[in-house]
Amino acid sequence: MPLVTTKEMFERSMKEHYAIGAFNINNMEFIQAITDAAEEAKSPVILQVSSSAIKYARLPYLMKMVEAAVETTTIPIAIHLDHGPDFETAKMCIDNGFTSVMIDGSKYDFEENVRLTKEVVDYAHAHGVVVEAEIGQLAGVEDDVNVSDDDAKYTNPDQAYEFVQRTGCDSLAIAIGTSHGAYKFKGEPRLRFDILEKVKEKLPNTPIVLHGASTVIQEYVKMCNDHGGKLDGAQGCPDEMLHEAAQRGVSKINVDTDLRLAMTGVVRKVFAEQPEVFDPRKYLGAARDEIKKAVSHKIVDVFGSANKA
Ligand code: G3H
Ligand code: 13P
Ligand code: ZN
Repeated sequence: MPLVTTKEMFERSMKEHYAIGAFNINNMEFIQAITDAAEEAKSPVILQVSSSAIKYARLPYLMKMVEAAVETTTIPIAIHLDHGPDFETAKMCIDNGFTSVMIDGSKYDFEENVRLTKEVVDYAHAHGVVVEAEIGQLAGVEDDVNVSDDDAKYTNPDQAYEFVQRTGCDSLAIAIGTSHGAYKFKGEPRLRFDILEKVKEKLPNTPIVLHGASTVIQEYVKMCNDHGGKLDGAQGCPDEMLHEAAQRGVSKINVDTDLRLAMTGVVRKVFAEQPEVFDPRKYLGAARDEIKKAVSHKIVDVFGSANKA
């Protein structure tokens, strides 16, 4: 099956109350691990590429490897730009065969976010590509102390509605308490499901996206720390909360940190336990196996997208 957009994946996920995993890719091992896990689970999957991943791996290499994954699997695969910073980057990805792009205007004020998003939507739709946009600010949500400030950082459901009407974006990332990276909550993890519910009431047909949704799998944090790493206090979003989010209307769940932790944990362990190893296939192969395990767990046990291909 050729690369697909996320349109049909999301339509079905909204009807049947599950989420599609969107996993960040930077190299061959990640692509193979993710698509092998999705193929085994018969699940649709989204491979997403940040602009720093493009800088690191180079666009033609990433595209060719994704094409190879598409040729050797049977599941629907979408290729998506993650956190597109500007119109030019989104255009470059659209022109090079991406089926979905995110334009992240959340750092701008509302009017500028609308203007930039609409500019990307117009270009993308003219080329058969779908657009994810973002409203509300993820970063630092967990550091809030003051209640009114706190509310200001989460997505405002009325603004979300106006934003979708004015931009015509295809899916919307909202801020309900998740954040990027390995340190998501200082105290107890907490997600604002009440905000998700209000957004879904106003936008029942818009697929909702959750960024910063890694669990920060403690087995990998420990594997890193036990072998020379320094990730004290790393904490993520528990599986049960992500499962609930998937059932309550989130259609796309973004994961990067967990796969980075899996790779780093395994590589550190091999280096520490087998100092004689110097064949990269030994540690990268072991890391690929572990990433595949982590992705399978998410698809099958948490997001609920197995057998939905
Ligand atoms: O949300 C951001 C992703 O984790 C990508 O991170 O820009 O370091 O590739 P990156
Ligand atoms: P994590 O850092 O929680 O994996 O989030 C990744 C993400 O949102 C990519 O856009
Ligand atoms: Zn993100």
